[in-house]
Amino acid sequence: MTKHFDTLIVNIGQLLTMEGDGPAKGERMKTLPVLEHAAVGIKDGKIAFIGKNEETKNFHADRMINASGKLVSPGLVDPHTHLVFGGSREHELVLKQQGVSYLEILKRGGGILSTVQATRKASEEELFEKAKFHLDRMLSYGVTTVEAKSGYGLDEDTELKQLRVIKRLQNEHPVDLVSTFLGAHAIPPEYKNNPDDFLVRMLNLLDIIQKEELAEFVDIFCETDVFTIEQSRMFLQAAEAKGFNVKIHADEIDSLGGTELAVELGAVSGDHLVGASAAGIERLAGSDTIAVLLPGTSFYLGKEKYARARDMIEAGVAVALATDFNPGSSPTENLQLMMSFAALKLKMTPEEIWHAVTVNAAYAINRGEEAGRIALGRKADIVIWDATNYAYIPYHYGVNHVKTVLKKGKVVVE
Ligand code: NIG
Ligand code: FE
Repeated sequence: MTKHFDTLIVNIGQLLTMEGDGPAKGERMKTLPVLEHAAVGIKDGKIAFIGKNEETKNFHADRMINASGKLVSPGLVDPHTHLVFGGSREHELVLKQQGVSYLEILKRGGGILSTVQATRKASEEELFEKAKFHLDRMLSYGVTTVEAKSGYGLDEDTELKQLRVIKRLQNEHPVDLVSTFLGAHAIPPEYKNNPDDFLVRMLNLLDIIQKEELAEFVDIFCETDVFTIEQSRMFLQAAEAKGFNVKIHADEIDSLGGTELAVELGAVSGDHLVGASAAGIERLAGSDTIAVLLPGTSFYLGKEKYARARDMIEAGVAVALATDFNPGSSPTENLQLMMSFAALKLKMTPEEIWHAVTVNAAYAINRGEEAGRIALGRKADIVIWDATNYAYIPYHYGVNHVKTVLKKGKVVVE
């Protein structure tokens, strides 16, 4: 048998295919489909062969890549980022050291609101260049699919400006982007006494967002001093009525019952869930909602408390991991670091962690059938790692282990 490929990756020590149906839950999260001494063939940007290395003896390829016995996985998926924003907030680090809390900084008009000022001032071109810089860095860390939110405009022009930047990146950047409208990210000072009016104003943007295909998800920050459970329900139900899928920043700092609300609304994902109640976890387990956990945020906010990943996994919840990349509570593009935090702080096993940054992360943004797996016919989003086994990545922390990244079969990082 002779076969010709555009690219052939041979000598793979461990190949993580992540095969299986649907998101990984329960027992499936605890084991990994690993193929040893493997090879992968790519044709027209898609996976055309998966098998043993010795089967490739008579294969030909325009480009041969020798993986030298290393680990190969699907491109990682980061299902929760605030990619597009102006400025930065290093001045808040000192406030945090003085013991001023995240919500107190926000109350004083800083935090998200200070990034809103910077984002309103920035031109679309400036925001594009800055977001592209961060997205390039994510790709260099092996991330080939990214969810990106608006939410630093809190007015029509700036929210649309952010979403247009995401759309332009969708067209121009190799990374696949999934766009989320987070107009309900904070209450602008001018609406302090009538937040409901602000929500209506943001809802009025949905028609144009839909018409220009600027977002497929709608999200809200449900939190003390931000939006209540009732406001979040009203807002997300209105978005669903228009045909949007929804996500929710739920129980991040205080336990308000956002986890239960995510299930009630049939949200594609509930995100953060640090304060999720036992009842909330039970309900999540019986639902299709993916739990997106963001341990970098707990770490960066200096919290003792982390999401109860162990309880969630034991209950049968499909858990995903994300960076929450943003200028305030998690300024990092490094999803590999989140894998280490997941091991150390969430007590997740390496097997669970790999499911959480591939298949489950893809399902958390409705890309479960396209991304997060190496399967015949799927687009060839592949990472070759500078490690011989999958447990090494969460273990050796804080650095970039990527050797080569292929996006739709093309080498984009080497
Ligand atoms: O997920 N919680 C709200 N949004 C972000 C933080 C955004 C910011 O601080 O700029 C989060 O933690
Ligand atoms: Fe967030």
